[in-house]
Amino acid sequence: MAGNNTQNRRVVSGMRPTGQLHLGNYHGALANWIELQYRYECFFFIADWHALTTGYEDTTAFKSNVHEVLIDWLGAGLNPGACTIFIQSRIPEHAELHLILSMVTPLAWLERVPTYKDQMEQLKDKDLSTYGFLGYPLLQSADILMYRPEFVPVGEDQVAHVEITREIARRFNHIYGREPDFEARCERAIKRLGSRNATQYSELRRQYQEQGSAEALAKARSLIESGAKLTIADRERLLGHLEGGGRAILPEPAVLLTKSPKVPGLDGRKMSKSYGNTIGLREEPDSVTKKLRAMQTDPARVRRSDPGDPDKCPVWDLHKIYSSDETRSWVQTGCRSAGIGCLDCKKPLIDSVVAEIDVIRKRAREYEENPEVVRSIVSEGCERAREAARATMDDVRAAVGLEYR
Ligand code: TRP
Ligand code: SF4
Repeated sequence: MAGNNTQNRRVVSGMRPTGQLHLGNYHGALANWIELQYRYECFFFIADWHALTTGYEDTTAFKSNVHEVLIDWLGAGLNPGACTIFIQSRIPEHAELHLILSMVTPLAWLERVPTYKDQMEQLKDKDLSTYGFLGYPLLQSADILMYRPEFVPVGEDQVAHVEITREIARRFNHIYGREPDFEARCERAIKRLGSRNATQYSELRRQYQEQGSAEALAKARSLIESGAKLTIADRERLLGHLEGGGRAILPEPAVLLTKSPKVPGLDGRKMSKSYGNTIGLREEPDSVTKKLRAMQTDPARVRRSDPGDPDKCPVWDLHKIYSSDETRSWVQTGCRSAGIGCLDCKKPLIDSVVAEIDVIRKRAREYEENPEVVRSIVSEGCERAREAARATMDDVRAAVGLEYR
């Protein structure tokens, strides 16, 4: 599975099971995951408990939504031979870690997460004044910290959740992460780096701690990681020592901001299931064609003879994703001079979108026809995830003092 260069370089991300995915989900997250799976050891899961936080009143569609998302993932090209695919609720350790983290999480931290009030406002028809909804970001923190990842690939809207995850990890490590003889153990570990590297490490650590130099931090980290004589525990200790904490039981992950293009929906607003303006990842060519032909264009371009402005046209945003430089300059010139009509303009786009979806739909079909294959992919993924989760929870329980064997 993970090649040498991906060892210890973990990535975790999750998606709520919203039912069939659309092009917005694909370009916003999935396409990025598909690339990452070959560069890191990736854990991707369906956040069904997160769906429950806002959707607890009606769960009738849960099972089929989870299934549809899995098929879309596989159809789009997530490769179960390269990444671990699982379902959150099948790993009960997530709930246990969530509970333990809840003990050290100040209420105010959760109350001030911007998505908390935003979502309350936006989903006014639902009663979200629940314990579970307030804990949404904390559950997410548990999802993430469980796998001790280096990165969490998410979009802009999730950055605050990764931030609070980092704060919680820091607090947890501060309270439970420091061994009584931590300093002495670190000194012994530093010696094991070899005298030259030991000196360099101390210098880099000073630069990081005194001046906050990110470069020094990165260099010192790689020194620790390449220290062949260090045990895994020593390595973790030094990583904690470097950042001024104790031994990091739950290392702080970084955000890997997905550079996602703006994917406009058919009405020009952001593509979103709740707006009903989507193109599905497995949609039939006829339907894709029909939708795109009717898609909103520059509203000022009423007649074919009126020149248009691509900057005011959502179709142009799609060209930015799908079209070559050549096609794009053809659009720019043709639109502004009224040399082409909007249907001409959409033609190459329709071809590209249909071709992209075709590949996904065909690959997905095999899974649609063989649900037992999907089940076994998920079982294996859950197995692997659970193994990693158990290892973390053993450390967490020991650190907290909940060890009775
Ligand atoms: N909250 C995320 C979303 O709505 C889904 C999610 C749950 C997640 N747990 C996660 C994302 C852990 C990244 C890591 O998109
Ligand atoms: Fe939009 Fe293309 Fe029509 Fe110009 S020609 S308004 S870019 S669809």
